[in-house]
Amino acid sequence: MEKNRIFMKRMGKLSISFVTIVLVLGTGFFLYTQKSAPSTDNRISARCNHENMSYLNSDLSIEERVNDLMGRMNDEEKIGQMALIEKNSIRNIDDITKYHLGALLSGGGAGPDENTPSAWLEMVNNYQAAAKKTCLGIPLLYGIDAVHGHGNVIGATIFPHAIGLGATRDADLVERVARATAKEMAATGIFWSYSPNLDVVKNYGWGKTYETFGTDTENVTKLGAAYLAGVQDTSHGYIDVVATAKHFVGGGAMEYGTSRNKDFSIEEGNFSLDEETLRKVHLAPFQYAVQHGLKSVMVGTARWNEVINPSNHYLITDVLKKEFGFSGFVVSDWYAVYLISPNKYDSTVTAINAGIDMVMTPFEYKDFISDMHRAIANGDIQRERMDDAVRRILKVKFEAGLFDRPDAEKEGLSVVGSVEHRELAREAVRKSQVFLKNNAGVLPLSKTVGNIRVAGSSADNMGRQAGGWTVEWQGVDGNSDIPGTTILSAIKKTVSSDTKIEYNQKGIFSENTDLADIGIAVVGEKPYAEGWGDQKNPRLSEEDLTTINNLKKSSKRVIVIMVSGRPLDIRSYSKDWDGIVVAWLPGSEGEGVTDVLFGDYAVVGTVPLVWDIE
Ligand code: BGC
Ligand code: BGC
Repeated sequence: MEKNRIFMKRMGKLSISFVTIVLVLGTGFFLYTQKSAPSTDNRISARCNHENMSYLNSDLSIEERVNDLMGRMNDEEKIGQMALIEKNSIRNIDDITKYHLGALLSGGGAGPDENTPSAWLEMVNNYQAAAKKTCLGIPLLYGIDAVHGHGNVIGATIFPHAIGLGATRDADLVERVARATAKEMAATGIFWSYSPNLDVVKNYGWGKTYETFGTDTENVTKLGAAYLAGVQDTSHGYIDVVATAKHFVGGGAMEYGTSRNKDFSIEEGNFSLDEETLRKVHLAPFQYAVQHGLKSVMVGTARWNEVINPSNHYLITDVLKKEFGFSGFVVSDWYAVYLISPNKYDSTVTAINAGIDMVMTPFEYKDFISDMHRAIANGDIQRERMDDAVRRILKVKFEAGLFDRPDAEKEGLSVVGSVEHRELAREAVRKSQVFLKNNAGVLPLSKTVGNIRVAGSSADNMGRQAGGWTVEWQGVDGNSDIPGTTILSAIKKTVSSDTKIEYNQKGIFSENTDLADIGIAVVGEKPYAEGWGDQKNPRLSEEDLTTINNLKKSSKRVIVIMVSGRPLDIRSYSKDWDGIVVAWLPGSEGEGVTDVLFGDYAVVGTVPLVWDIE
């Protein structure tokens, strides 16, 4: 018994010390683990520690880099990559960091307060810096409509609009124009262009007619691919600027009166076509561009047989992605997703499931982000679909060297509006001129003709020469803001010193003087863009017709130069004119018009669509 008691005592002591040891060790371990277990903050900073982040290693393949980055991203970061926001909708620059926004754009005319190339560069670099402040530092894709040169920027070279390039039918020229445009963009820190336009226009009343290469699928396909090659220059080892083919698809066939927007009549409209025609005429240029390295496609707002394109799973996923093998990303056009349904959530779900990878909301990023979270949580959008969209976007960001290239710097800005680019623009203007009528060989004109009278609303007007998408979305009317040469100044520069030039915009010249040898009326369209230019039957204004008639009264022969983005109906008047030159919307270099008008160069342009005269 005694032994037992002693044994029990010992055991008791032992167990007490055992408990003590366990307690001490346990507390130590607890304290230890407490100390080393990462807090949420620490976990974030570990994720944000840029050392050992494989996706930053440019020696790895793009696939490895995308995989590594995807593996680190949470839902907020993924959803942010799928949003494309207009820069004026960013309420606070810190929101870029806070919401992990992946892409920004400047809408037409949306530049820095002071519109200079260096202010653009500073503005875009500041946005980039905000994006790079995020944990994973994923750079922004910053996009802009550089549709005829870097046209939003005052001082950039303004090339002819696409319809003029269409008239050249010259792929090599178009490629050079696109490359120069991309260089001017890249100099201002912008590496994503919303061009080329691959719409095949069938309805010339459409305000976007001049954004296209014309009506002929083959020409659109050829020039579109050339433009693409020019923009996506790879001489630095990455794609310098990412091109976007737009507007997928069929907008060129929209019918008058089908727009659902009360301000427009064609834009946002419907086209009825069988699939075979849609493929042969309108899809072909996109398929060809996909085969030639296209990185992004913009889905427009047209409805095909009443189904709006951003909701069309068949066209976006089955045809474009699966059948054509498009491996870049699909972005929706301005607010296009929200035209699907009056309910924003439903619109987002439908569009992403149809195959849209990035949504140009372009305003409310918070709504888009919360709708996406909800859709993923509800299972209305599968996680795999979101991941596929984000992978596609990141892949293009890597291909464009955005993770590797240094920020653009002020020193590079000298290419913007450089002499070399202006020379190229002049060449493009020259090659786009078309002589639509040439009675008795009146064209080209002689430089030594005695006297010339010049008139017309577009004779001395840079804004009209440049058209829409120049400085402002709808363009500008007049001579402020666009450095370059008007057609009037080009005429003055070209003729011999003995030739007398008189100018009156309305064509009113003193009745007592002799008739001028030649009257030149430069007439056409006021600048416009998109739906604001929709018309049933585009024609010359009464003012222009009166000017031409005035000029006729005081000139032996009359040449009419059309500064317009599309055929204007001149059938009732054209028989009274001796010559008709189509200058399209030539942009900043008016001397390209006179190069051909006065015969220094032969005419090589032909209309890229049908233009009837009598
Ligand atoms: C136009 C597109 C353009 C986008 C961004 C849309 O309204 O249809 O061509 O790229 O706006 O400015
Ligand atoms: C923007 C354009 C855009 C258009 C669409 C404008 O406010 O500046 O870029 O294409 O809206 O409606």
